Formats: sequence, C-alpha cells, structure tokens
Amino acid sequence: MTDAVLLEKPAVSAAWHDQPILWTRRWTDRLFSFVIERPESFRFRSGEFVMIGLPSEQPGGKPTLRAYSIASPAWADELEFFSIQVPDGPLTSRLGLLDAGDRVLLGKKPTGTLVLDALTGGARLYLIATGTGLAPWLSVLRDPETWERFDEVIVTHTVREAKDLAYRQFLTVDIYDDPLVGDLARDRLLYYPTVTREPFVRTGRITERIDSGALFEDLNITGGFDPSVDRVMLCGSNAMIRDVRARLEKAGLIEGSNAAPAQFVLERAFVG
Ligand code: A2P
Repeated sequence: MTDAVLLEKPAVSAAWHDQPILWTRRWTDRLFSFVIERPESFRFRSGEFVMIGLPSEQPGGKPTLRAYSIASPAWADELEFFSIQVPDGPLTSRLGLLDAGDRVLLGKKPTGTLVLDALTGGARLYLIATGTGLAPWLSVLRDPETWERFDEVIVTHTVREAKDLAYRQFLTVDIYDDPLVGDLARDRLLYYPTVTREPFVRTGRITERIDSGALFEDLNITGGFDPSVDRVMLCGSNAMIRDVRARLEKAGLIEGSNAAPAQFVLERAFVG
C-alpha cells in the first residue's frame, strides 16, 4: 500500500450507511419530516434512535451527526424522522433543505431506552412528548407488541402553537387504517394534544395538567399515576423531562432501563 492510499480518506466511512431520501414533508417553517430507504441489514427495536448526518462541507472533515428517534416501526421498509430546523443548527439547517434523491448518512447502531423491553408489566401506557419528542411514539404505536402488552395507550403532545401538532391527522384518523395495528388501536388509543402559547381546545403544559388533575379528569382516570397499572415513556425537552420525572417519582414510579426494566423511561429529543 502506498502512502497516497493510506492518506486517502473515503468521503463516507464504512461506519455509516449512505441512504437516499425518498420523500420529505414540511409541517411548518421549523418542522419537517424526511424518509429514507432502510438498508436491508438495518435492524432496530421500535422506539430506538440512531445517528443521522451529512458529510462535512470541508474536504476531509468529519461528518456532522445528531441522534434522531426513528419514527417508523421496527418492521417498516422505510425509516422516517421528524426534525426541527434550527436556522443556525449545524445539521438541521442543512437537512431541512434536502429533498427526495439527496443522501444522508445513517448510523449502524440504533439504540435507546424508549422501548417496551425497558418497561415491566403494566396495563396503561402513557407516551408523553413535547415538540419533536413525538417521533418515537409514532414508532411504538405502530408496533403490534404495544397493543399486546397494554390495554390502553395515551399519547400526549405539547407544543407552542396548534400548527406545531404534526402527525395530528395520523394520530386521529390514519392510524386506524394501518393494516397491522388499526383495529388494535381502535377504542384503546387516546391522543391528547395540548398547546401552550395560543388558544386551543386544551391549553397548558402537560405538567400543569397533571398538577391540576385535568389530564386525569379528561381521560376519566381517578387517582393520578398508579405504579401498579401505569407505565410511562417521556421524550422532549430537558425541562419537560425533568419536571414530569419528578412527578412520576413522587407518585412512586421507578425509572427503568434496558438492563433494569421498571415503570418509566425517558430520553431527550435532540436538536441542533
Ligand atoms: P411553553 O410554551 O410554556 O414553554 P419547545 O418548543 O421550547 O421545545 O417547547 C415545546 C413545548 O414544551 C412547549 O409547549 C413548552 O411550553 C413545553 N415545555 C417547555 N418546558 C416545559 C416543562 N418544563 N414542562 C412541561 N412542558 C414544557
């Protein structure tokens, strides 16, 4: 091997798949989704995240990468991602400009704690999100195992303005046409959107609605969170996770992990 070969770095390392975008969808000026082809060898559990990136704009530079929850279920042929677009974000400002046919880097090691394996028993599953933290719920909800494990699934999505309620049509209508889980979800899925910065049918942070009891009243549940029945997954801003976690722990729920499954699990939604 010559020095020239040794020094030559491939533009895309073997650590990454290099996948074409199949389609994109723009929800607002700050929110978009994109879907890539799933490599045949790529396996993951519903709810996991993976690194997504773009090659460096500098010759020989390192790719720019961020962790993204996979919004598709484990059985899907395509991989969907739901992203915020931060104007000066090193990755999202570029990703948001891409279209079908453009390529992105996909990590080879999906991982994460927002998986059914990290939860014990339970009968009712709360999936609590702010912003793009909704993404893993779109995966978990379309996994038939979720419906085998839980009698009832409650998806809460808190955003600043109603227009930020991406996937609302899917969560209220289209999911019931899903060939795998549509029938299972009927009468057992509760979608609970709340909006914090403009009038809406349901306003306020999810923490406020937990504290006032409005969440439980609306759902016809007496007595708040119950460790013997309820399992909870949290995904979204650090502040929301910190505040809801405190309330779950106060109610006696214990945080779980892949190594030690328990009653609730959490993950930040990644931005930038
Ligand atoms: P708010 O508008 O009152 O800040 P962001 O767009 O900043 O990621 O926020 C998404 C949603 O999360 C907003 O509706 C925001 O409410 C809400 N939020 C922010 N911090 C918390 C928190 N500590 N607990 C619950 N919800 C929160």
